[in-house]
Amino acid sequence: MTQDSTIKAQMRQLIQILAKHNHAYYVMDQPTIEDSEYDQLFHQLKALEQQYPECIQADTPTNKVGGKALPKFESITHVVPMLSLGNVFNQEDLFAFARRIEERLPNQKIQYDVELKFDGLAISLWYENGILVRGVTRGDGETGEDITQNVKTIRNLPKVLSSAQVSVPALLEVRGEVLMPKAGFEKLNAENEAKGEKTFANPRNAAAGSLRQLDPAVAASRPLAFYAYGIAQCEPNHGLTSMSESLQWLTNFGFAVGERHFVCDSIQEVQEKYEQINAERPNLSVEIDGMVVKVDDLKQQQQLGFLSREPRWATAYKFPAVAALTTVENIDWQVGRTGTLTPVARLNPVAVGGVTVSNVTLHNIGEIHRLDVRVGDTVSVYRSGDVIPKVEKVWPEFRPDDTVEVHLPENCPVCESPVVMPEGEALARCSGGLYCAAQRIEAIRHFVSRKALDIEGLGDRWVESLLHLDLLKNVADIYSLHEHREQLLTIEKMGEKSVQNLFDAIENSKKTTLAAFIYALGIRGVGETTARMLANTFQTLEALQNADIETLKKTPDVGDITAEWIIDFFQAPHNLEVVQRLLEAGIHWDAPIAPTRQPLNGESWVITGTLSQMGRDEATQMLQALGARVSGSISSKTKCLVAGEKAGSKLEKAEKLGVQVMNEQEFLNFVAQYGNIE
Ligand code: IVH
Repeated sequence: MTQDSTIKAQMRQLIQILAKHNHAYYVMDQPTIEDSEYDQLFHQLKALEQQYPECIQADTPTNKVGGKALPKFESITHVVPMLSLGNVFNQEDLFAFARRIEERLPNQKIQYDVELKFDGLAISLWYENGILVRGVTRGDGETGEDITQNVKTIRNLPKVLSSAQVSVPALLEVRGEVLMPKAGFEKLNAENEAKGEKTFANPRNAAAGSLRQLDPAVAASRPLAFYAYGIAQCEPNHGLTSMSESLQWLTNFGFAVGERHFVCDSIQEVQEKYEQINAERPNLSVEIDGMVVKVDDLKQQQQLGFLSREPRWATAYKFPAVAALTTVENIDWQVGRTGTLTPVARLNPVAVGGVTVSNVTLHNIGEIHRLDVRVGDTVSVYRSGDVIPKVEKVWPEFRPDDTVEVHLPENCPVCESPVVMPEGEALARCSGGLYCAAQRIEAIRHFVSRKALDIEGLGDRWVESLLHLDLLKNVADIYSLHEHREQLLTIEKMGEKSVQNLFDAIENSKKTTLAAFIYALGIRGVGETTARMLANTFQTLEALQNADIETLKKTPDVGDITAEWIIDFFQAPHNLEVVQRLLEAGIHWDAPIAPTRQPLNGESWVITGTLSQMGRDEATQMLQALGARVSGSISSKTKCLVAGEKAGSKLEKAEKLGVQVMNEQEFLNFVAQYGNIE
């Protein structure tokens, strides 16, 4: 290929990408990339064109404004075209912009009007004899869409002009931006989420989506606002001489203008305002993506005129990108404390909104497939405000030839145990359970907790120190700690007495119940109640370990998925080894009450209100020992409600549903008939 054809091919590629995103942005209202990324690509193309003007393609987007109007609204041709703005991204470019102006206006004093650059949708409003007659979108800058009905629903926009200070012109065309202020956006999204409806990615999309509704009632229900930033036509002429005065004049009629705007005497001062506005950005009520710098004097504006489709007298000074392109160097899998495997993309470090990002979570394998992200890919990394950075999209056009699809690892990267991902679940997990180092802390915390083996003396401080000394690889190691007395004494603040207390607590924990032991193992889906049901049903640990899936599923409280998790747990050799060691250490229990002695087997009971002779926990245990399931809510399936003092809505509901109710004394009499149950 000759150099020319290589350049042309590069330009072609950029033009095609830009055209695709332009369509998505202007026509579909569904931007597929960040504005800053679009700008990057646009500037890449512009730079190539500047360097190789002989290669410029006829259909380049650098000399037109945007997309086409949708056919569903009536098309309107703008009498005064709605132009676009050039961009600067740093002080150097800003000063170059000022120099170009000074060269054209030698020896003139130049003042700059500095405004917020609203991140919404540009519209044009026509007022005839003070009455709002038409609202039109920018469209492609030449032709827009008639959205008058929707525009009229915007609450902060004057529909009729009147002013005590100035007379109302016969014709006024005001330009400005329609936005959804941040607070309204958050409220709308929260409401939509509560209703299970679609939420919007950002305020700009929400504003765009609202304005393009064919039904004005929908637009009316959305918290839109209009901010004016210019006058396109005024008859008779308003006689104003500057941009800043124009904004002031518009406020006489009730138009809102940006909450910050300044007139600066020098370009250095403009730079200072840029820093100030950037710092204040989070406190502003609306989203902005930069500021707009305009020559303030209207006569000077006229003298400067336009270059192609942009005024020479104004530019947008954009804030640093919140999205950036970089490459994926690796994809690692991290094992969380509960065994979940999370893919993390290791990136070629890139600055995004002032922060260097080198790792970003990809959440789960589903997200990897959705993005189709691979090692070697070029990706856009997005970050907004304090939000954690995320990979927004993969750029297939930059994908090297030799990439391979990412699959879920078959084995845990920490302990090598098989990775499992039950059907219908989004998250993959390490099946290593108690054996997996990554899951150790959580497993140990759970094992020693009150409803499990209840080793109160083994608090977080101990656990951390013991893990640090490598004395706790899994929960079975708790019972060999006494072999390491000397080492334990080296731990800061742990004297003879604390160590002895710990050993006593561990020793005391050896006598437990089968239910507490099953619960302590931390099998997924097996909470306290399920563990009790399993203990009562299977009676011995051995029977539970050998149970097949069908038998498990028949156990009260065990669903299909939990049954599978139980099977998985007891199939992992590591888990069996830990269980074996625990039993060898001397953990034991009395045989549970046989189901035949469980007269309330399968019944659902509810306890409410205050009990005077026992705690709710104690009453729960009594019922559970008799085989009942104690639930938190009343339904038609509830067998009986035990209602203590101050029973409220549950009592009402039980009465309404005709569920049997017992007071505390009746309950005590009832359980007494079964004798001593524990
Ligand atoms: S003045 C001749 N002022 O920026 C163009 N535009 O790239 C005069 N915008 O979509 C535009 N805030 O809607 C101007 N304070 C502001 C603005 C602003 C946002 C948008 C405008 C247009 C884009 C121009």
